[in-house]
Amino acid sequence: RIAGPSGMVIFGVTGDLARKKLLPAIYDLANRGLLPPGFSLVGYGRREWSKEDFEKYVRDAASAGARTEFRENVWERLAEGMEFVRGNFDDDAAFDNLAATLKRIDKTRGTAGNWAYYLSIPPDSFTAVCHQLERSGMAESTEEAWRRVIIEKPFGHNLESAHELNQLVNAVFPESSVFRIDHYLGKETVQNILALRFANQLFEPLWNSNYVDHVQITMAEDIGLGGRAGYYDGIGAARDVIQNHLIQLLALVAMEEPISFVPAQLQAEKIKVLSATKPCYPLDKTSARGQYAAGWQGSELVKGLREEDGFNPESTTETFAACTLEITSRRWAGVPFYLRTGKRLGRRVTEIAVVFKDAPHQPFDGDMTVSLGQNAIVIRVQPDEGVLIRFGSKVPGSAMEVRDVNMDFSYSESFTEESPEAYERLILDALLDESSLFPTNEEVELSWKILDPILEAWDSDGEPEDYPAGTWGPKSADEMLSRNGHTWRRP
Ligand code: BG6
Repeated sequence: RIAGPSGMVIFGVTGDLARKKLLPAIYDLANRGLLPPGFSLVGYGRREWSKEDFEKYVRDAASAGARTEFRENVWERLAEGMEFVRGNFDDDAAFDNLAATLKRIDKTRGTAGNWAYYLSIPPDSFTAVCHQLERSGMAESTEEAWRRVIIEKPFGHNLESAHELNQLVNAVFPESSVFRIDHYLGKETVQNILALRFANQLFEPLWNSNYVDHVQITMAEDIGLGGRAGYYDGIGAARDVIQNHLIQLLALVAMEEPISFVPAQLQAEKIKVLSATKPCYPLDKTSARGQYAAGWQGSELVKGLREEDGFNPESTTETFAACTLEITSRRWAGVPFYLRTGKRLGRRVTEIAVVFKDAPHQPFDGDMTVSLGQNAIVIRVQPDEGVLIRFGSKVPGSAMEVRDVNMDFSYSESFTEESPEAYERLILDALLDESSLFPTNEEVELSWKILDPILEAWDSDGEPEDYPAGTWGPKSADEMLSRNGHTWRRP
């Protein structure tokens, strides 16, 4: 579907996210013909930029980051509708100027008063910007024209602050006009979780505590945090990605089938499963955190977090976090959900492994050898997108020997279609008012409610354990599973 007449204002357009993700995604959408002909992009910021300076900046960002081929005619059409408005976030005159600019664009480009405001700014500036949008009459939707706000995480740093932030945003924009970005939900492989589970007959009958032993959700990254101290120091891995990306993955893996895929029905099921999700206790045994120390990442010797530029040399920020959650429902009672994430780990991989119980009986005895691990379905979110099923098979030969084998579906082999980048999908959905891939205020608050006890326990108890860069995290994370007789998959 193509978006109707509309435009977008980006606050924080000179930031990293805008340059690396948002501007390339907007260009790609234009290049794929998914934006309306008069689409207008307005940047708002402190730089003394002319329209030409802004155009050049967007052009550089788009040509560096776009997925589609750069085409002059597409670029020219997009550039015609670009404007830059200079100002601070608390500057009345600058916001009045922005409002006048949007009105002018509505007349000249046919954007029809439909505007999306993208807040790619730190949350402590949300109040000022929302207040200014309201004051200058830019926030309110009318029968003829819609106004929406798109916001980036972090949505607070605990339940209380998230609640305050939601109240503040909802005081200006009704919930139906708020689009909170969790870019994992924009990923093709994440959307496929529901297709895998609910379009097939094969998996769902096994998807419960009768057959599933435990679930492991891993988001491992090999990159370090050089250059991100301003955002990350004091935030840490759990707040950065468990609260949002990993808990959303858990919700999709564990939720019941929605009545339909309309946003409200989908959200209702996610809220139900998140309401039943809790940390397992005692927290010092069911959670783990670590911080990377210097080490070898492949053939490169890399710094530890405390030596990275901008980080406090005594920082206790965790760069690895793991926790054990349970879901108190008939379907999942007694099945641990292990979540882990870390920077500077062995390699970059995100996957969900649903690990099955052993067969209740093995009719092989005598000289028959069974060297079998647990059966598993592994959803490979990235890279090498696909789904793997692991099971035992007889080794060819006269002996009855059973060994683990893999059955592997890979996106790149099965489909010729290209997957759109997550931000492309999400920006287009926000313009189309399609909200199913955006977490609601209630989902965000429930995720904090799950995580808060773990964060509080960490605050009051010691420091993260060091792990050398290039390894799979601290020992305490392995012990967390071995206590239950489990081990992490080595992807
Ligand atoms: C972001 C986190 O949300 O996701 C980053 O803030 C992380 O710390 C990034 O690196 C990972 O995203 P992706 O799409 O590369 O897995």
